Amino acid sequence: MSSSSEMEQKRKFDRLKLRILLLPNGVCSTFLLMLLLLWRDLRESDGTSVTEGINVALRGIANQSSTFEGVGLASKAIDGSLASNYLQKECSHTDKDYEPWWAVDLLDTYHVAFVAITSRGDFVNQRLNGSEIQVWGDWYSHHSRCATIFSIGTGETRFYPCGGLKGRYVAVVIPGRREFLTLCEVQVFTLPLPGTNIALLGTANQSSTAQSFSEAGKAIDGSLASNYSQGQCSSTDYEYQPWWAVDLLDTYPVTFVAITNRGDAVSESISGAEIQIWDTWNNVHSKCGTVISMGAGETSFFSCGSVKGRYVAVVIPEISGFLTLCEVQVFTLHPPIQKTVLRVVLASAVGNALETPESQDLVLRNLEAHIETHFAADTFNLTRGGYHIESQAPAVKEETKTQDCLGI
Ligand SMILES: *[C@@H]1O[C@H](CO)[C@@H](O)[C@H](O)[C@H]1NC(C)=O
Ligand SMILES: *[C@@H]1O[C@H](CO)[C@@H](O)[C@H](O)[C@H]1NC(C)=O
Ligand SMILES: *[C@@H]1O[C@H](CO)[C@@H](O)[C@H](O)[C@H]1NC(C)=O
Ligand SMILES: *[C@@H]1O[C@H](CO)[C@@H](O)[C@H](O)[C@H]1NC(C)=O
Ligand SMILES: *[C@@H]1O[C@H](CO)[C@@H](O)[C@H](O)[C@H]1NC(C)=O
Repeated sequence: MSSSSEMEQKRKFDRLKLRILLLPNGVCSTFLLMLLLLWRDLRESDGTSVTEGINVALRGIANQSSTFEGVGLASKAIDGSLASNYLQKECSHTDKDYEPWWAVDLLDTYHVAFVAITSRGDFVNQRLNGSEIQVWGDWYSHHSRCATIFSIGTGETRFYPCGGLKGRYVAVVIPGRREFLTLCEVQVFTLPLPGTNIALLGTANQSSTAQSFSEAGKAIDGSLASNYSQGQCSSTDYEYQPWWAVDLLDTYPVTFVAITNRGDAVSESISGAEIQIWDTWNNVHSKCGTVISMGAGETSFFSCGSVKGRYVAVVIPEISGFLTLCEVQVFTLHPPIQKTVLRVVLASAVGNALETPESQDLVLRNLEAHIETHFAADTFNLTRGGYHIESQAPAVKEETKTQDCLGI
């Protein structure tokens, strides 16, 4: 956690303590009321910074065919910022070269899983049209093309899968014409894929189950083994529009989905399967891609652009068939949502007004109303943890001093 978000969190807690202190005094009791606060710390990217530590381009050295006006330095595309205003010196920019190129030396050889490109945001243009993302084994040689950029929005960040191509350099080249090449950020993600496979935390379901050993959970068992006959895969029955879905049990920004195909037979039956993100059950929020074809036992990656969802589904639309999956991995590059529990002990000095559940609920609602005024409603969850008589030592000593008498 960065120190600024730590400070932000501390500030929130301080404000919360202050709020509790500000509750009006009133009837007091000899009982303590314990409150459990579940604090959801949504530490998500604000869209202006890249995730550190996993984007190997940040460790590299960039170069390009030429530098426009001496300002659009190659290094601007690996400065760790997705800011996309060239005029504010946030992007790289070549001259109008014939077949301009930009390349980053990763200083080591990697298997490249994905490259994310951020286009210029201050100028609507199609200059990147037809540019190629390449992985080079050696400087300017042993090219492998991992993707062609056909259209990219203004200031947009797009992920391009590179299927694990091996190389030391990642380059963007505009072949066959004289053009300016401007890039505001190039992120390189390598195998093994960074981030967390959150599918492992979820529960899976499918439209039907072909055999007792082909239940939906086989696709999130953490194994890429792909022999269906040996019970290593999930499979639906033969049916119209078969589906498989994993409930991630919480909402995450999904960056990549990896599908592992059946390896022992009928590997073509996966063709046409669509990878979807659902925000609520069976509500298609976004599509990450469609399987064109996959080899036996092969694993393919689909980029989902960090679209948030609770379910990841694989559906074969509009045809009848079997849907067989040997593994589905769901990656989020963002840190998982953190929950912090803050226990507050409220003690009353007079009477036994806090003894009954009714009076405790009244206190909870009172407190909730105060907190709701000052915090986003979905950032906390207030539950009653129980109460103790005063003679028992409170579990969280330093917090007992924040309140010794609570009005109800
Ligand atoms: C950049 O590329 C030019 C031309 O290929 C080369 O002469 C120069 O040494 C390179 N600079 C770096 C820092 O790699
Ligand atoms: C860029 O691609 C878009 C969409 O494919 C197309 O409409 C446009 O004409 C292309 N522009 C250039 C300069 O090639
Ligand atoms: C799985 O899907 C079936 C059919 O839609 C549904 O009846 C069942 O409740 C689901 N089970 C779980 C665990 O979601
Ligand atoms: C899959 O398992 C079956 C049954 O054990 C076996 O006969 C077959 O050779 C295996 N196929 C592959 C590709 O390993
Ligand atoms: C708070 O907790 C209750 C009970 O555990 C649960 O039903 C509710 O969904 C939670 N709310 C949030 C915002 O997490």
